[in-house]
Amino acid sequence: MAYRTIILGIESSCDDTSAAVIADGVKLSNVTANQSIHEQYGGVVPELAGRAHQKNILPVVDVALKEAGITPNQLTAIGYTRGPGLMGSLLVGGCFAHGLSLGLNIPLIEVNHMQGHVLAHFIREKDTSSNVPQFPFLCLTVSGGHTQILKVNSHFDMEVLGETQDDAAGEAFDKGAKIIGLPYPGGPHIDRLAAKGNPQAFDLPMSKMPGLTFSFSGLKTAFLYLTQKGEKANPNFIEENQADLAASLQAAILKMLLAKLKRASKETRISTIAIAGGVSANRGLRQALEQQAQKSSWELFIPSFEYCTDNAAMIAMTAYLKYESGDFKKGYLPPLARLKL
Ligand code: KG4
Ligand code: ZN
Repeated sequence: MAYRTIILGIESSCDDTSAAVIADGVKLSNVTANQSIHEQYGGVVPELAGRAHQKNILPVVDVALKEAGITPNQLTAIGYTRGPGLMGSLLVGGCFAHGLSLGLNIPLIEVNHMQGHVLAHFIREKDTSSNVPQFPFLCLTVSGGHTQILKVNSHFDMEVLGETQDDAAGEAFDKGAKIIGLPYPGGPHIDRLAAKGNPQAFDLPMSKMPGLTFSFSGLKTAFLYLTQKGEKANPNFIEENQADLAASLQAAILKMLLAKLKRASKETRISTIAIAGGVSANRGLRQALEQQAQKSSWELFIPSFEYCTDNAAMIAMTAYLKYESGDFKKGYLPPLARLKL
């Protein structure tokens, strides 16, 4: 099949090295190498992440192209994550993309990682038709570094209606998981354990933040105190209550996310709701949103698991939309650890 626009996307903002090929808006491949090295440290070690990206990037890109059945000289352009993220990690993907674009003499397109998470909703799968959200829609972006409610007016016009003042939702999962002895990243472990526990077993406070702002640091402290108090009375407290602790923590995080999302929908009168980012893989959140969507007549868009956590397909998709609209600057724009939407 002859494609008009073929984009290679490269994502290396944190601890996943990913490459993907999107042709005319359709995903042909999406390959990710996860870095297990960080597990033993209980969090991402930036120096080690950069080194692992360096090791992984060439084979990952190679496999992504082969799986897509595309040779490098067929590529129209290359998209890369410019930020936000870890500087050493971003540099590896950015420099690699830059070098390859020079070698192939094709445009290089910078992509904002958070915009990528949102625009993952527009990725089409081969030989299937899928429904995409109509503008304007609200997007709850919940990852390891971000918790935001966005009003998405168009592909490239996104307004931040509210965000976290301290920890991100993913961090709340990860820090809570660490407290009860689970490895990094803790979100998926909490998700798995929560399904076996009682969400009402322990009462955790909801922070009272104004408007559409979030705060998770109080919850983390309350969770820490709860476990410390429990352990004083019973040294096996955590072990004996791990599933109930996970379920209660998850319920408190989800309650906060849902309350703000409901409020945003009411205030903006927008009922097309999407979620994005690593935490959108959480089964409890997906279920709670589906129930809320029924109650509130929301049209709900939940990404497939492949596009929740960091992946290059979302970067390639964003670069594709930028390329098609002519909305990109020529040349290499160096990474930015902090990059606003
Ligand atoms: O979007 P992402 O892959 O990377 C960032 O841009 O941060 O998000 C990673 C975050 C981590 O905090 C991880 O624990 C969380 O997403 N996460 C989950 C689940 N899967 C990943 N949190 C809760 N439940 C999950 N199933
Ligand atoms: Zn992310």
